[in-house]
Amino acid sequence: MEIVTSKDICILCREVLRLIDKRVIDHGSRTAYIMYRMLQCSEKYEDFELAEFALFSMIHDIGAYKVEKTSEILKFDVTETLPHSIYGSLFMKYVSPMEPLSKILMYHHVDYSKLADVNYEHKDVANFLNFASFLDIYNHSMGDRFDYNRMRSYLGKKFSSRCFELFDLAEARYDIFSHLKTEEWRDELDSFYDDIMFSDEEKDKFIDMLMYISGFRVEYNVVDTVTTTCVATEIANRLGSLSTEEYSALYYASLLHDVGMLTVPLEIIDAPRKLTPEEFNTIRQHVSVTETLLRGRVHDNVTNIAVSHHERCDGSGYPKKISNVEMNMPMMILQVADTVTGLTCIRKFREPKSKDAVISILTDEVNHNRYHHGVVMAFINNYDSIMEIVQKRSNEVMGNWKKLNSQYEVVKKSLVK
Ligand SMILES: [Fe+2]
Ligand SMILES: [Fe+2]
Ligand SMILES: [Fe+2]
Repeated sequence: MEIVTSKDICILCREVLRLIDKRVIDHGSRTAYIMYRMLQCSEKYEDFELAEFALFSMIHDIGAYKVEKTSEILKFDVTETLPHSIYGSLFMKYVSPMEPLSKILMYHHVDYSKLADVNYEHKDVANFLNFASFLDIYNHSMGDRFDYNRMRSYLGKKFSSRCFELFDLAEARYDIFSHLKTEEWRDELDSFYDDIMFSDEEKDKFIDMLMYISGFRVEYNVVDTVTTTCVATEIANRLGSLSTEEYSALYYASLLHDVGMLTVPLEIIDAPRKLTPEEFNTIRQHVSVTETLLRGRVHDNVTNIAVSHHERCDGSGYPKKISNVEMNMPMMILQVADTVTGLTCIRKFREPKSKDAVISILTDEVNHNRYHHGVVMAFINNYDSIMEIVQKRSNEVMGNWKKLNSQYEVVKKSLVK
């Protein structure tokens, strides 16, 4: 059972980032299109390598999601370019499967003339990316008033002569400007991703990367996701009744089930009060956002489990109000794991519940037939050992996250000096 194709990994990365802020990733996508055509004209790379550079270029400003205020988005690419370059580079290094390319981001706003002493195999690509990104920002914002030839005043200084050679070739062969104008570039870029090839291990790392991306907005999303995934798979391990395919569908569904929460405003997520009915409604929408994002892109078994995590065995859940006759075991496991996460994780205005409280809430709910009895018992009977594993795994993941963030501060300080 293939959970997700390599191409759909690219599309998922794009769509998840679009949920947070589409301006950055749309700029990235156009830049990716320009980069692909330029690198293609260099005749140095195989199609799958070009596709990988395109994906990398699409997310080249990923650091901006963390370090920039949303109101000032895209200013980072013109004025203060250092913070997002550093953060993006470290993000790629620590939590993506594209570590060998990560330094490109460190240099993607450095003038070509300053790269002379830099010894890095992809420094030319870094300068092409600088060029493509710059070209897109001005071309996109100025429209017909943009005069490409004025960029030539930067030749040899900001941009290498090779940038212009490759772009001029690409423009002559592929009509870049007119394709950008007519939006034809979108389908072309999608078709480039047909050639991308990731191993299962790399795909897993990309899915983990999506989890870290959700932490850009709210840090505890990362811990929540790890907790849910860990509780779900540990319950499955104790039950021992899932097939290999069910187990893997449960695993990926747990990692992806709440990705739609990225569209819920922070004022609602962190509200220090009771939510209004409208606000509850907004929160409930996250399931359909998750469905739109996953359906047709990951295996249906995964999507079906993910979108059922707020359903309840007695039909009192949402959005479809299905009952246990329409549920499979992985769905009922994820429902419990998600609830355990909500009860035990830290929130801005709410303390985590004690073990006794969690057990008493779950017991009460199971007596009302809201959860699967066997699933809840598998959790309650192994509470300590499961929560110990959860703790260990969250520490690992948060350790990575903290390392990334503290290194960012160190590098930024040293470079600012
Ligand atoms: Fe940038
Ligand atoms: Fe950029
Ligand atoms: Fe949810």
